Amino acid sequence: MNEKLTILIVDDDDVDRMAVRRALGKTGLEPVIEEAGTCAAALNALREGNHDCALLDYLLPDGDGLKLLRDIRTADILTPVVMLTGQRDERLIVELIRAGAADYLSKDELSGETLGHAVQTAIRLYQAERDQLRAHTELEAAHRELQSSHEQLLQAEKLASIGQLAAGVAHEINNPVGYVYSNLGTLQKYIDNLYQMLEGYAHLETLVSDEDALHTVQALKKELDLEYLKEDVRDLVSESREGISRVKGIVQDLKDFSHVDEAEWQWADLHRGLDSTLNIVNNEIKYKAEVVKNYGELPEVECLASQINQVFMNLLVNAAHAIEERGTITVRTGTEGDDAWVEISDTGKGMNAETRKKIFDPFFTTKPVGTGTGLGLSLSYSIVHKHHGRISVESEPGHGSTFRLWLPLRQPEQMAE
Ligand SMILES: Nc1ncnc2c1ncn2[C@@H]1O[C@H](COP(=O)(O)OP(=O)(O)OP(=O)(O)O)[C@@H](O)[C@H]1O
Ligand SMILES: [Mg+2]
Repeated sequence: MNEKLTILIVDDDDVDRMAVRRALGKTGLEPVIEEAGTCAAALNALREGNHDCALLDYLLPDGDGLKLLRDIRTADILTPVVMLTGQRDERLIVELIRAGAADYLSKDELSGETLGHAVQTAIRLYQAERDQLRAHTELEAAHRELQSSHEQLLQAEKLASIGQLAAGVAHEINNPVGYVYSNLGTLQKYIDNLYQMLEGYAHLETLVSDEDALHTVQALKKELDLEYLKEDVRDLVSESREGISRVKGIVQDLKDFSHVDEAEWQWADLHRGLDSTLNIVNNEIKYKAEVVKNYGELPEVECLASQINQVFMNLLVNAAHAIEERGTITVRTGTEGDDAWVEISDTGKGMNAETRKKIFDPFFTTKPVGTGTGLGLSLSYSIVHKHHGRISVESEPGHGSTFRLWLPLRQPEQMAE
């Protein structure tokens, strides 16, 4: 050992302390020696200092060595302890060792050699244990990290494939919907033409002298309720057109949301992303909350639009879930310096400080088993991080939550064309 050892002697008796000092002097270790006279002082010193070893007397004014040993372990102090005492009680020795003492020496037979040996063995043992513990903790952390990035990848892949599927379906639907929409337009025009024609014929009725024929036509007119029919045909066509244009909107939203054709860095309109995402999660939100849009001025932002939409979706769905009965979700946007920001706040149940600290951890969820995976926010966090942006949260229990994300308008290295 190159560096000098620091050893703490814990004993209330001056003469005994001197004896221990003397014995230490003969070990050849030449340690730096510190002293404490009570359990409390010893605990304090061990907590503050960086001792290589502590030599503990069993009987102290404010407690016994066994209790002190236990206190040392509960305080997570990793200094090895060698007990020194005048008593020779086998049962006590066993208890001391169980409580974490590295070794046990009788004060009566304290020689430089035994003491030096005990101290060095204790230190070596603890060092090995500590190394093992550290390696274990590191391994555990690495394993956790690996697992979480694996799950995140799966989740991202899942979302991407859902997006791809949606975009595929949207593409297939797009064509038929397109011609139905345009045919309905033509139909409307033709119907108007037919009505004009009908008007023309109606005028001719006055010129008809054949009473029977006239009667038949008028009876038919009445039976078919021509006036109502004319009204209704118009309504039917325009309702159908409206329905189809809603389908067109959904198809467009799906395409915007997945951006599958453009899974590249691109310049995107965040408002458009927010709107299409809101339409997509509408089902999940509409029974819970009224959505208030408070959009500011936003230039286009350089981003991976489909991923940013996933962030919006996670935040919006979380906001809806946080609302128990009915509430409001407010979406605000704006710019600040070179960043665009988007804020999503809800009037839901909010979070306490402890929850707030953990929400970006993978797998952290307060939702019932099988409901939430706890990956929404951790995935969102990594997406925002990839964009060189940041995400913040303000929340109080009972006062709702506000999530805000900042995205640089332009990525550091020019990534989009
Ligand atoms: N707007 C919010 N209000 C209150 N708590 C929230 C809000 N958003 C997130 N949380 C808390 O953060 C936790 C983690 O959210 P996260 O989106 O990561 O996972 P989740 O919603 O539980 O599950 P999922 O993986 O399905 O999204 C939630 O379980 C909830 O406790
Ligand atoms: Mg969530």
